[in-house]
Amino acid sequence: MTVNRKILTLDEFTIQQMRQFPTATGELSSLLRDIGLAAKRVNVEVNKAGLVDILGDHGSINVQGEEVKKLDIYANNQFMGVLQHGISCAGIGSEELDDFVVFDDEISNNSKYVVQFDPLDGSGNIDVNISIGTIFSVYRRISEIGKPCTKEDFLQPGSRQVAAGYIIYGSSTMYVYATKRGVNGFTLDPAIGEFCLSHPDIKCPPSGKVYSINHGNFFQYTPNTREYINVCQKKDKTNGGPYTQRYIGSMVADVHRNLMKGGIFMYPGTIDKPKGKLRLLYECNPFAFIVEMAGGRATNGKERIMDIIPTELHQRTPLFIGSKDMMDELDTYISKDLV
Ligand code: AHG
Ligand code: MN
Ligand code: MN
Repeated sequence: MTVNRKILTLDEFTIQQMRQFPTATGELSSLLRDIGLAAKRVNVEVNKAGLVDILGDHGSINVQGEEVKKLDIYANNQFMGVLQHGISCAGIGSEELDDFVVFDDEISNNSKYVVQFDPLDGSGNIDVNISIGTIFSVYRRISEIGKPCTKEDFLQPGSRQVAAGYIIYGSSTMYVYATKRGVNGFTLDPAIGEFCLSHPDIKCPPSGKVYSINHGNFFQYTPNTREYINVCQKKDKTNGGPYTQRYIGSMVADVHRNLMKGGIFMYPGTIDKPKGKLRLLYECNPFAFIVEMAGGRATNGKERIMDIIPTELHQRTPLFIGSKDMMDELDTYISKDLV
């Protein structure tokens, strides 16, 4: 039997990457693999989501006599668990937790990184079998190694990320991560339970035909945002159009599609919520890093997302992200908006 050695698993790939850096300690590779393990566990549960009514409701006792947890809490616990028990992470911030968690044990205090994540993004879509995801962001801590990590480690601007990624639980399950060396995508092969390199060196096309925004909020948007939406709707063959509107309501799925095919995703501020809905630390910054590393751009309408200095774990920001040329055109309409 011949074995197809063209296929690299996530573990093989991260080890190969590490070997190109003689001084690398392997901590980042180990962290990325830990996240892959948690993702596989979450994937199994996400795939069973439709069975919840016959196996037991969230919060109830299932047929095995175990308590069934909400999937986003389950996912949170899986990601937190692998990071706490791994060798690379000193603490975490999560959408599901009120405050940062400092692990504060001997191995964690000697670890180089802190991680922030949204364990399940788009979780409102679980019940209707629509793609959902996990988003994460990795920073090198700035506090002293050997001691517990501190709040300052978590409140670094996105430009200081060393890696960021997402897992999309969709028609297939994919793990995409970016470092300063590029963006690579791995598809889960369920036959062997491994993520396999399927999308090496991902580049975001400089332009596309898709714009993604919640049109239901149209009259809540500022005049400049509305003007840009009108521009998208009026595109024709003479100026790069026509455009198509696609909005799944799972940011991971919307941005993943636009990253692969070209497009722009927007979650602007509204009259009621001038900072929009999306969270800077574990939704916008990781995607800004990934999309920039793939050649695109991400802003809050005025400044680069990754230049914002964070002040709190759950802070929100408007987000405009996607193909470079589309973002450049957006700028001409939107840049006057934000105060
Ligand atoms: P979460 O499920 O983690 O709370 O986030 C959902 C987010 C994002 O994935 C999506 O793009 C956005 O909410 C959709 O919001 P609207 O329904 O307001 O458009
Ligand atoms: Mn989310
Ligand atoms: Mn979430």
